[in-house]
Amino acid sequence: MKHPSPAIYQRLRYGAFLLCACLLVSTSLLAARPPVAAVASAHPLATRAGMDILASGGNAFDAAVAVSAALAVVEPYSSGLGGGGFWLLHRARDAHEVMVDGRERAPLAATRDMYLDADGDVVPGLSVDGALAAGIPGVPAALVHISRRYGRLPLQQNLAPAIQLAREGFEVDGVYRRMAQFRLAPLQDDMAAADIFLQDDEVPDAGHRIVQADLAATLESIARFGDNGFYRGTLARKLVQGVRAAGGIWSLQDLAQYRVVERKPLRGEYRGMRITSAAPPSSGGVALIAMLNMLSAYELDSLDTATRTHVVIESMRRAYRDRAGYLGDSDFVEVPLERLTSMAHARALGQSIELDRATPSSALPGNTTEPEGEDTTHFSIIDADGNRVAATLSINYPFGACVVPPGTGVLLNDEMDDFSAKPGEPNVYGLVGAEANAIEPGKRPLSSMSPTFVESEQGVAIIGTPGGSRIITMVLLGILDLADGNGTDSWVSLPRFHHQYLPDSVQFEPGAFDEALQQQLRERGHTLKPLDSSYGNMQAIYWDKQTGKVTPASDPRGVGDARVGLIRLK
Ligand code: DON
Repeated sequence: MKHPSPAIYQRLRYGAFLLCACLLVSTSLLAARPPVAAVASAHPLATRAGMDILASGGNAFDAAVAVSAALAVVEPYSSGLGGGGFWLLHRARDAHEVMVDGRERAPLAATRDMYLDADGDVVPGLSVDGALAAGIPGVPAALVHISRRYGRLPLQQNLAPAIQLAREGFEVDGVYRRMAQFRLAPLQDDMAAADIFLQDDEVPDAGHRIVQADLAATLESIARFGDNGFYRGTLARKLVQGVRAAGGIWSLQDLAQYRVVERKPLRGEYRGMRITSAAPPSSGGVALIAMLNMLSAYELDSLDTATRTHVVIESMRRAYRDRAGYLGDSDFVEVPLERLTSMAHARALGQSIELDRATPSSALPGNTTEPEGEDTTHFSIIDADGNRVAATLSINYPFGACVVPPGTGVLLNDEMDDFSAKPGEPNVYGLVGAEANAIEPGKRPLSSMSPTFVESEQGVAIIGTPGGSRIITMVLLGILDLADGNGTDSWVSLPRFHHQYLPDSVQFEPGAFDEALQQQLRERGHTLKPLDSSYGNMQAIYWDKQTGKVTPASDPRGVGDARVGLIRLK
């Protein structure tokens, strides 16, 4: 037998050295841990639930279940067991990343024209108020799935804080009162909802306790029986009965068939940072990556403020045009994801951006009203092993459909309004859609929820917010602020602006544009729409891998709470 030559030995040794070095580098990257855990959520009681679960030995995924369930109790206008959401997970041990899609599905009896009258016109309110507006909820299935597949603690333990909050009640605050005032009429229309969420049929006083005994029992049923505790058996029968009595179309089969879907998150890159965000049926990742791709053609920090703002607006306009035209549930329609998130597409879209003038949306190939509502919820979590969760959950409009099937405590969502009831007709957020987002039985409505991770050599950001159609542009502005070197406090508080293709106007928060900037934008041809109030409720965390510092932050526009804790996983 021929012996290998010394040169081959040398190459083999060099190869082995390289392999070891790679293994060492990758294990040290995987092993990198933050020194603390952190939770940022829209409600102090939910943040506390998450921190308590972490302190009891739970990981970020257990804490995510506890926070989601607690928010379902204490923020009933934003999310709940009757709603849906997207949980973006990163498991530190093997860098596994997944989006748990617990989005609502259209009932099997849903039809394309279910919200139209005999003349083919959209019936106002039908997809927003009342049981017909409700999709089949995904939150309970997602909680069971995340806890069992990714958590370390038993589901019962993860749901315990929420059960206690539902049973003992929580105090009404200013946000609750504002939301209840906004949805007072539809809440008064449903006896069970009014009993739980109003006080003598009116907006409750500050400090009034909202006790939800039925919801506590429903959570207990899920804790004991998992999916079956919600989607089958006694509770499922009560849900279907209540929905049908209120004019809805759910069936037992709808509930029994509901499944969460694990989806591959969307990936993009911006200035050396890796972006990981929501996949369809959310439009968030696609639009976010498309905007960042377009913006990477510019040295944003060397542009004057007016030009920078202008190109950011123009990138929003173009990405939202794609949203309106192409996006829908990718299990039902072909969504050209690769193309829409490619640099080539961004270059093609970006070619029509002129630095000195706005492109009218009507000049772009391919059509909306005023977005409203400050509802839905987002939270961010990191544990001391580096596991992380970004989750945005919703029942859509404040207090969803404002209907509670009697005996369940479950407030129904009105997520069916996120479908395009009629091509080209705006929904409650002024968004228009096309065939891709038309109603079909079992289909998931297109969402804007954009839970996102941003990662670079320097650190890791976990970011997201509620805000309907404006979610994606809020996350974009947060990422651009991160790229500018600013910290979480700045991302969550900076004044915001938004363009969504149609209507062709730039909305901006009080204080976002000074007089001079407004003048410069008008001169370029932008129609400005100053808003009377602020929007969004961003919850973010940044882990600086170089310094080890973990900084959570909660949007000052809300009443949320961001905490760090010295919690080590065993
Ligand atoms: O999934 C969506 O895009 C909407 N249902 C989210 C609604 C929302 O953020 C309400 N907050 N203003």
